[in-house]
Amino acid sequence: MNIALLGYGKMGKEIETIALQRGHHIVLKVDETNAHTIQPEHIKKADVAIEFSTPHTVIKNINMCFDAKIPVVVGTTGWYDSILDIEKECLQQNGTLFYASNFSLGVNLFFKLNTYLAELMNKYPMYDVEMEEIHHIHKLDKPSGTAITLANQILSNIDCKKQWSITQGNPETLFIKDIREGEVPGTHIVKYHSNIDDIEIMHKAHNRKGFAQGAVIAAEHIKDKKGIFTMSDLI
Ligand SMILES: NC(=O)c1ccc[n+]([C@@H]2O[C@H](COP(=O)([O-])OP(=O)(O)OC[C@H]3O[C@@H](n4cnc5c(N)ncnc54)[C@H](O)[C@@H]3O)[C@@H](O)[C@H]2O)c1
Repeated sequence: MNIALLGYGKMGKEIETIALQRGHHIVLKVDETNAHTIQPEHIKKADVAIEFSTPHTVIKNINMCFDAKIPVVVGTTGWYDSILDIEKECLQQNGTLFYASNFSLGVNLFFKLNTYLAELMNKYPMYDVEMEEIHHIHKLDKPSGTAITLANQILSNIDCKKQWSITQGNPETLFIKDIREGEVPGTHIVKYHSNIDDIEIMHKAHNRKGFAQGAVIAAEHIKDKKGIFTMSDLI
């Protein structure tokens, strides 16, 4: 499979390593120094594009892939306010989009555990719930896309929480503490606490390999498909 890497930073490089190990070819590598080469005629050389760039550049890059009629896997986070517009555009153009706030198998299992725990805990209002996410200091978006996915799963199941916030204080709000330190690849903790005891679940990535592997498997999955896909289509 020929792959275009739109975004060649920490994740782009990790994806290149995994893609080559799985027998694929990288036909285009783009970072901010050659972003002008993201044009349909260049992208068309690929069977699929994998987009891990920035929240400011991702929308233009996705639309360029739709124009080139090339399936696109999107790992960039911090753009989900535009998701409905992008999904509409994808369907109108008969395109192919796979997006996920987190491509690692472990985190997607953690998502299932989080949903199940929230369903259980909704019956026990003596427990309050809050979250913590820790990432490296270079991360541009806050809170992380993964934290927002976890928060939405909790909001769908815990009746007394109406929205999430990075500000603490309102009992109807799910507080997300976002910490930026060192080179942490990504840690997420969901905490239920009462006067009697605490229950916590945590996912801690040791490196970026899990994200990269998931993105390449997603690319293999959508190569010859049309429509909109996410991790539940793989797991
Ligand atoms: N979904 C997931 O599983 C997952 C996992 C890790 C990171 N991420 C997200 O992926 C994104 C990238 O993460 P990273 O750690 O590789 O960041 P990074 O800063 O290391 O890399 C970003 C790259 O994008 C390049 N870039 C800038 N403008 C561009 C443009 N117009 N077109 C293409 N590339 C451009 C930069 O030069 C840089 O090489 C972030 O949004 C991050 O939150 C998602």
